[in-house]
Amino acid sequence: MDKTKPATRPANPRFSSGPCAKPPTFSLQGLADAPLGRSHRADIGKAKIKAAIETTREILGIPAYYRIAIVPASDTGAFEMAMWNLLGERPVEMVAWESFGAGWVTDAVKQLKLDATVHTAGYGQIVDMTTLDYDKDVCFTWNGTTSGVRVPAGGHAIPSDRAGLTLCDATSAAFAMDLPWDRLDATTFSWQKVLGGEAAHGMLVLSPRAVARLKSYTPPWPLPKIFRLTKDGEMIEGIFAGETINTPSMLAVEDYLFALDWAKSVGGLQGLSARARANYSVIESFVASHDWIDFLAKDLAIRSTTSVCLKFTDPRIADGAAFAKAVAKRLETEGVAYDIGAYRDAPPGLRIWCGGTVETRDVSALMPWLDWAFTAEIAAQKAAA
Ligand SMILES: Cc1ncc(COP(=O)(O)O)c(C=O)c1O
Repeated sequence: MDKTKPATRPANPRFSSGPCAKPPTFSLQGLADAPLGRSHRADIGKAKIKAAIETTREILGIPAYYRIAIVPASDTGAFEMAMWNLLGERPVEMVAWESFGAGWVTDAVKQLKLDATVHTAGYGQIVDMTTLDYDKDVCFTWNGTTSGVRVPAGGHAIPSDRAGLTLCDATSAAFAMDLPWDRLDATTFSWQKVLGGEAAHGMLVLSPRAVARLKSYTPPWPLPKIFRLTKDGEMIEGIFAGETINTPSMLAVEDYLFALDWAKSVGGLQGLSARARANYSVIESFVASHDWIDFLAKDLAIRSTTSVCLKFTDPRIADGAAFAKAVAKRLETEGVAYDIGAYRDAPPGLRIWCGGTVETRDVSALMPWLDWAFTAEIAAQKAAA
């Protein structure tokens, strides 16, 4: 059973689902233009932040009349900012199909104590979006990073004439999947995800309807300064034009600009999506030709092309969690794959990030190693029995 080690290793073993691999052309030298030691309110700082906002708009095809802000605390900060500012005006449909969505449910039910209807689906599945009441507000996650599922392309079921707002956590979908901006009222994502940027800053994209809600509705709970988007019933417009609420890291801004430039160089959203699909396809072929591994998401239509979640199905495996952990450890020890153990709350297995910053040849090089680690672990389990 001692399968020899494959001859080739991935040049980059970084397959973490966040922070994700940096763009292949990245080097610290590429950040040399960061205005370090300067005020973010100086012209140069503001110009950089504005460029980050507008290049995001350009690559993602966000309409000119949508507002985009860089906000504190990464995707979590951005999504909670949306929840705390927008919700409470009407009942809310809370939709969760994995760990992060479940976190937003906790926010809505236990913290904000909203009139909430909770819709959940188990790991590997999603809630049928056609069953939701879009006259209420709806909070959902486009791509479940911890379960490897996504809203099916063209299958979101969000009507254009909805009365409620849609709040979408799109952190592992933005820059990898098409997002229907006309159906999304508050959309959030972080830099550390698909573009491999640095953590700590989040993006908040608001539709005109979300802005109308902000102007017409004041939530009954206190809002800390870090969440405040309005003053005296008017939008604080500077936030959407480069004047962040508090001090951002100009090094992280420069890093995001670097990633955006690289994204443009590979064809923007279409290029990035194609790279993710190519990476996913390598794993799909591997799964199709090996009977001991499968996707957590059975249904192809909802299978993520960024956070690809796998489970071991071999009946010889005695302890699924210990087995998956041991396989991930072997791969890490060999330096061929870092951080690919399933998320702590998810079913045992592996999660291989396939977003655009990952090179397809590295995913290809990893596959024989999966085979090797699986075989080695089955042998180890047998020897220990
Ligand atoms: C779907 C989803 N939502 C929220 C988060 C939290 O993101 P952050 O740590 O950038 O705030 C993550 C992180 O992995 C995520 O995958």
